Amino acid sequence: MRYEVDFLVVGSGIAGLSFALKVAPYGKVCILTKGEASEGSTRYAQGGIAAVMYDSDSFDKHIHDTLVAGDGICNREVVEMTIREAPDRIRELVQYGVEFDRDRKGDKFDLHREGGHSEFRILHHKDNTGEEIERGLLEAARRHPNIEIKERQFAIDIITQHHLGQRVTKHTPDIECYGVYALDCDTNRIDTYLAKVTLLATGGMGNVYSTTTTPVISTGDGVAMVHRARGVLSDLEFMQFHPTSLYNPAEKPAFLITEAMRGAGAVLKDREGKEFMQKYDKRLSLAPRDIVARAIDNEMKLSGKDYLYLDARGIGKKQLIEGFPTIYAKCLSIGIDITRDMIPIRPAAHYQCGGIKVDRNGESSIHHLYAAGECSCTGLHGGNRLASNSLLEAVVYAHNAAQSALEKVKNIGFKQEVPDWNAEGMVLNEEMVLITQTKKELQEIMWNYVGIVRSDLRLQRAFDRLNLIFRETEDLYNRSVLTEPLSELRNLIACAYLIIKMARARRQNVGLHYSLDLV
Ligand code: FAD
Ligand code: SIN
Repeated sequence: MRYEVDFLVVGSGIAGLSFALKVAPYGKVCILTKGEASEGSTRYAQGGIAAVMYDSDSFDKHIHDTLVAGDGICNREVVEMTIREAPDRIRELVQYGVEFDRDRKGDKFDLHREGGHSEFRILHHKDNTGEEIERGLLEAARRHPNIEIKERQFAIDIITQHHLGQRVTKHTPDIECYGVYALDCDTNRIDTYLAKVTLLATGGMGNVYSTTTTPVISTGDGVAMVHRARGVLSDLEFMQFHPTSLYNPAEKPAFLITEAMRGAGAVLKDREGKEFMQKYDKRLSLAPRDIVARAIDNEMKLSGKDYLYLDARGIGKKQLIEGFPTIYAKCLSIGIDITRDMIPIRPAAHYQCGGIKVDRNGESSIHHLYAAGECSCTGLHGGNRLASNSLLEAVVYAHNAAQSALEKVKNIGFKQEVPDWNAEGMVLNEEMVLITQTKKELQEIMWNYVGIVRSDLRLQRAFDRLNLIFRETEDLYNRSVLTEPLSELRNLIACAYLIIKMARARRQNVGLHYSLDLV
C-alpha cells in the first residue's frame, strides 16, 4: 500500500505525541508505532520532569547543574534555551490534561529532588510520572481529528535518493527524506509512506545491553535507520547506566528504583549494610548518575557480589507507601517490604545521551527529517544526562521541531517516483533461534566489554566479536523475508557498532565514557 501524509511521525512516546499535537492543526498527521501506542520508555518514567517553576529556584542553578552533570561538554546555548523554555512546555502538558502532584494547599506543584540537582525541581505524578504523561498526551492525540495512530507498524528504513537509484554516501551534500518504508506486523506487508516532513521519535537503545531498564521496543531503530541513510550521528559512547535497578535477575526489563527515593533520603549500602559513597563523592548517594553507577560497579567487583542495597527505611512508612506506591507494590510482590527490608539493586543500561544529531530546531543532517526525544542528540546532555532532563528535552525539541516543520512544509511536495519495497526472491526464515541467540550474544558482549568501565582491550574484543555477528546477520537479512525481530537485531548490531566506534574514538575519560586506559 502507498500512503501520503503531510507529517509522518515514527514513535508515540512523549516526543512523537508532543510534535503531532503541535502540527496537527495545520495538516494530516500519521503516527506509526511498532507496538501498542502506549508502549515506550515514556510510560515507565518514574522520577519526573525537571523545570524551574518558582522563585525559590533559578534558571542559572538548573543550567549550572546540567553543565556539571554533562562534564564540560554540553552545548551551553542549548542548555540555556532548553531550561528557559521548560516552564512554558510544562504548562502546555498541563493544558493537554497531564496531572502533576501538588502541595497540600493545591496551589503549587510538589517538587522532588534527584541526583545532581541542587534544588527540589522535579515535577512528578507520584512515582509513575511517565504513565501519566503518556496517558494525557495519548488521549489528546486520539481526540484530534487530524491525527491517525497506526499501531504495529514497524518503520524499516527512511526513504532517500538511494531508493531512487542514486549513490548516497556520508559526503553527499543534500540527502533528502521522502518518508519511510514500514512493515505491517499483522500482514507482513511492507508499505510505502510518503511524507512532506518526517519526525523520528523512536526512543532509546537500552536493549543493546543484557540488563536494561528500557522496554523491549528500545532497539535503536531510528539511529540505525539514519546510519544506513548516511545521516550524522553523535555522542553514542555516552550510554547512561542507572545506578539502581531492582535486582531480580529473571525480570526483563529491569524494574527501576527511582532516584527520587535517594532524593527523599534513601542511601546506598554494601552487602554488610555499610554506607560506601563517602569513598567516591562528597555528594554521597546524590552524586550524579555516572559517579554513583561507577561506585556501585566498583563495589560489586571488589566484593564479587551481584547486587548491593538501597536502604529506604529512614524515609518513613507513610511517605514510602504514599509517595512511592508503584515501587512499594512491586517490591512487595517479590517478598521485599521496603519499609522494613533493604532493596537489592544493581546498575542497568538506562538512557542513550547520543543519537541523531539535530540543530536547535530538531532538524537532522537529512533534509525534511527531524528527530526528537531519546533518539536525538541535541547537545543538552553532553557527557552525562542530568536526571529528569530527558522528558524535558523531548517536549522542548518537539515544540521547536514543530515550529520549524510548519514553516518549511508549505514548500515541500511528495516524491511520487519512490518505488515500492522489493521483496522478490526472499524466503521466510523459520529458525527464530538464529535471531534470538545472536541477540543474547550481542547483549552479553556489550554488557561485559562496553559497559560502565571500558578498556582498549575490551573494546577491541567487542569489536572483533561483533564483526562475526554482523556478517552472519547480514547474510540472513540478504536472503530472508524481513520480519520485526530480524530488523530489530540488525538495528541493535548497528547501534552496538556505533557505540564501540565512538567509544574508541573518545580518547579522554569524560562523563559516562570511562576507560581504564585513559585519564
Ligand atoms: P519512547 O517513549 O521510548 O517512545 C519510542 C516510540 O517509538 C515508541 O512508541 C515505539 O513503539 C516507537 N518506535 C521505535 N522504533 C520504531 C520503529 N522502528 N517503527 C515504529 N515505531 C517505533 N526521563 C526523565 O526525564 N525522567 C524520568 O523520570 C525518567 N524515568 C525513566 C524511567 C525508566 C524506567 C526509563 C526506561 C527511562 C526513564 N527516563 C526518564 C527516560 C525517558 O523516559 C525517555 O528518555 C523518554 O521517555 C523517551 O521518550 P521518546 O518519546 O523519545 O521515546
Ligand atoms: C529516575 O526516576 O531515577 C529516573 C530519572 C531519569 O532517568 O531521568
